[in-house]
Amino acid sequence: MQSSKQSTNSFSSSLGAIMAAVGSAVGLGNIWRFPYICGKYGGGAFLLVYLCFAFGIGMTLMLSEFVIGRRSLHTPVKAFESLAPKRKGWRYVGVLGLITCFFILAQYLVISGWTVSYFFDAITGRLATMGQNATAISDYFNGFSTSALRPVIFLAVFAVLTAIVILGGVQKGIEAVSKVLMPVLVVLLVVLCVRSLTLPGASKGLEYLFSPDFSKLTAEGVLAALGQAMFSLSVGMGVMIVYGSYIPVSDNLFRTSMWITASDTFIAILAGVAIFPAVFSCGMEPAGGPGLTFCVLPSVFNSMGGVMGTIFASIFFLLLGIAALTSAISLLEALSAWLLETLRTHRWIATLVIIVAEIAVAVVVSLGNGVWSDFHITGITIFDFVDRLNSIYLPPLGALGTVLFLGWVLPSDELRDELSNQGTLRAVYYPAVRFIIRWVAPLALLVVFVSSLL
Ligand code: TRP
Repeated sequence: MQSSKQSTNSFSSSLGAIMAAVGSAVGLGNIWRFPYICGKYGGGAFLLVYLCFAFGIGMTLMLSEFVIGRRSLHTPVKAFESLAPKRKGWRYVGVLGLITCFFILAQYLVISGWTVSYFFDAITGRLATMGQNATAISDYFNGFSTSALRPVIFLAVFAVLTAIVILGGVQKGIEAVSKVLMPVLVVLLVVLCVRSLTLPGASKGLEYLFSPDFSKLTAEGVLAALGQAMFSLSVGMGVMIVYGSYIPVSDNLFRTSMWITASDTFIAILAGVAIFPAVFSCGMEPAGGPGLTFCVLPSVFNSMGGVMGTIFASIFFLLLGIAALTSAISLLEALSAWLLETLRTHRWIATLVIIVAEIAVAVVVSLGNGVWSDFHITGITIFDFVDRLNSIYLPPLGALGTVLFLGWVLPSDELRDELSNQGTLRAVYYPAVRFIIRWVAPLALLVVFVSSLL
């Protein structure tokens, strides 16, 4: 049974699995969140803490999801059910994960739509016409992102694109696309880095990013590092359970997780090097999030002048679109695979149902940022509410459920079996991994979650 499912529904190789998972992990978080919070909380000092969390905890969370996925060969809800048939309640960890995926994808569609729209604005020279007029640029962004029609059209286009990849299947869709897009992303990023580093005064940006300032590393910064490590590695929502079920049985899961974590971190750092030297070079203030991407950077590109500005702006928005697409693919795959398994229907029906539902919710999120911005949930707009759910509240809970399940519910032989591939690998790291899963990760996640409520 196991081998037949693995042959039809799995990545063809270890490299394919790594590319797909890196595609999931590398997203908006790497490009607009990491560089900014790194600078804000002490540069090199923050980086040090981030590396410890990413490799110590984030990577272990990813490994845990891979173990659950590959062991069960099921999607999130059934995975928990089948591994602990007598303790049905754990299936809700899977349910929570899918809900998180659903909301993250809705938000991703909106922002990816903005990215596609800006890519067209860049390549057609429309962005360039605004020059370095900060007011004009931010007025344009506010006008566009709060308008009713244009963002909706672009989010739908992006959603259809994502669905087409999913319809291609695990190997010919997800894996094939990731194997092409990930190298392209790195090349584009390197081109931007070279441009950024050769601008006058670039060193100030590097200083902002890397020079360690322990006085800026507050408790808040330490928590931000942990939250960012988890968000950036796409853990806590079951996506890696689904990808784990596609990883070949002979694959060394520990090594695979390490490669993914290293690549994700490397790309986040490269993004910082591509962005901040350029920002400082033209005398702008550093920022993160949409403000950085859609207001600060267009002005930076325009300062490069004429054709050069147009070229680099186009490269940047293409890069951002690629990063977002491969993340959206993994989210849609997790949801579609779950529906496919639950309803036992065709892949295209499952994908169609999910994407239509996603577009509907994404339209609400988009309008919540504009026309409906007066409508508030817990005092904030729908858009901000979804953002908080996705980045602060839901993922730590899902991750907590996952490690508690693996550390305390599943018999320990199962973890050892998966890490050592049924005893064929030595897996010397097993005791350390188990200790982190049972103690370190749950405590850290609890702290993150409780502090998010304060
Ligand atoms: N890792 C993505 C980023 O850095 C964001 C993200 C979080 C994500 N969870 C996910 C992407 C699940 C895909 C699937 O931007």
